[in-house]
Amino acid sequence: MNLKLIKGMRLVAATHNAGKAREIHALLDGHYEVVTAGELNLPEPAETETTFVGNAMLKARHAADRSGEVCLADDSGLSVAALDGAPGIFSARWGGPEKDFGLAMRKIEERLEYLDATDRAAFFTSALAVAWPDGPCVVVEGRVDGRLTFPPRGDRGFGYDPVFIPDGHDQTFGEMDPALKDSLSHRAVAFRKLKAALIDG
Ligand code: IMP
Repeated sequence: MNLKLIKGMRLVAATHNAGKAREIHALLDGHYEVVTAGELNLPEPAETETTFVGNAMLKARHAADRSGEVCLADDSGLSVAALDGAPGIFSARWGGPEKDFGLAMRKIEERLEYLDATDRAAFFTSALAVAWPDGPCVVVEGRVDGRLTFPPRGDRGFGYDPVFIPDGHDQTFGEMDPALKDSLSHRAVAFRKLKAALIDG
């Protein structure tokens, strides 16, 4: 089996999250025909694993077995040092059924206040998995470190972007030009590793 991603091939992005799908499109730089699991009406699996890597593999495998196509999945989230790494793999769930990340960001702020915590260190993680139908699965992980700021700033990006300032910058991911976020984000770091492993040229 050829474990390479050949330019021009079709890839299923195993996500129903429009923000992630946009970033995956941008990071693949037009070299692949990308269709999302949402567009194919594939069901979303329950994320039952305990790590980003485990959940990324679970999502890629689930989509590859149902679509019969090569699938790429991202499992990602925000880890706050003063909250012992929360929300971490539960980042999406902190938004509740309405996926309300204004609420999730307030929850983080309230917990930090409740704990009287002054440490604002946080990082985003992205695990990217590629699964071949009835075949292997390759997984990599990327991380970007930074600090939290409240109240949220900026309406570009998605999820927790408005409260996260990456190290070396003054703008939140929510304020930043998306091209700049795409050059330094956790997903960009993971993509560079994936490219080295699976993409020639
Ligand atoms: P999941 O990987 O589908 O479980 O969801 C990850 C959740 O983490 C998303 O719904 C976002 O809330 C958050 N997240 C992951 N990556 C980013 C990002 O680049 N910016 C902001 N929030 C993110």
